[in-house]
Amino acid sequence: MAHLRPARETDLPAIARLSHQTLLLGREGGHAFPSQELWGELFVAPYLRRGCCSLVAEEGEVLGYVLGACSDWALALDLLPRLPRLLLNLLLGHYGPRLPHLHYLLRLLLYPGPKAPKGLYPAHLHIAVRLEAQGQGLGKALLTAFLDCLRAQGVKGVQLSTTRVNQAARRLYRSLGFRLYAKKASPFWAPYLGHPVIHEVWVREL
Ligand SMILES: CC(C)(COP(=O)(O)OP(=O)(O)OC[C@H]1O[C@@H](n2cnc3c(N)ncnc32)[C@H](O)[C@@H]1OP(=O)(O)O)[C@@H](O)C(=O)NCCC(=O)NCCS
Repeated sequence: MAHLRPARETDLPAIARLSHQTLLLGREGGHAFPSQELWGELFVAPYLRRGCCSLVAEEGEVLGYVLGACSDWALALDLLPRLPRLLLNLLLGHYGPRLPHLHYLLRLLLYPGPKAPKGLYPAHLHIAVRLEAQGQGLGKALLTAFLDCLRAQGVKGVQLSTTRVNQAARRLYRSLGFRLYAKKASPFWAPYLGHPVIHEVWVREL
């Protein structure tokens, strides 16, 4: 039986692996961003060091996670001082081929998804459950515990980014009281999927 516990910095490799395995709209997308290590340093580590209410579901090993942040500034404070070294290592080839990583990061800057006002919805989250553990209630348990934790910390609202094609995630969010706040067709995923995708931001008051 899986149990939930706060995520720790030592969970970085396991969470980075799962997050990297689901980077392409919930599916495997290693060709878009080959380095799991760099992915973890950029998109996971800041949440473990400066995030809030981040949790894992564990049964011997990590089966799922929710990564949360109550303020973007906190994440930036962790990442910005480390960024020059990470970029240098990327350019020196320490993370494998440079071009796909640079291409992905540049497109991330060029095509930001829609956002809800941070004043009303200051927190945000990312969630994933291992493929073989999906459909057993872990996603719902993680997200419910995450929302309870935010409430206990006095956070007044939370937002998350997803896409129109991610039906399982959208149903989970709707079932826990989130609503679609804004959407925008974005070419961000087009080189990897062959077509643009509707990016969405969902919100929930707490
Ligand atoms: C989205 C995700 C976290 C859901 O986790 P999960 O443990 O499988 O979800 P649960 O078993 O707790 O199910 C919760 C709800 O999600 C929805 N859901 C889950 N799997 C679904 C599926 N395959 N199809 C449709 N809806 C689904 C259902 O509404 C379900 O509630 P219900 O069983 O009462 O109908 C999981 O599918 C996942 O990790 N996907 C890959 C990563 C990802 O896409 N993350 C979100 C990025 S925005």
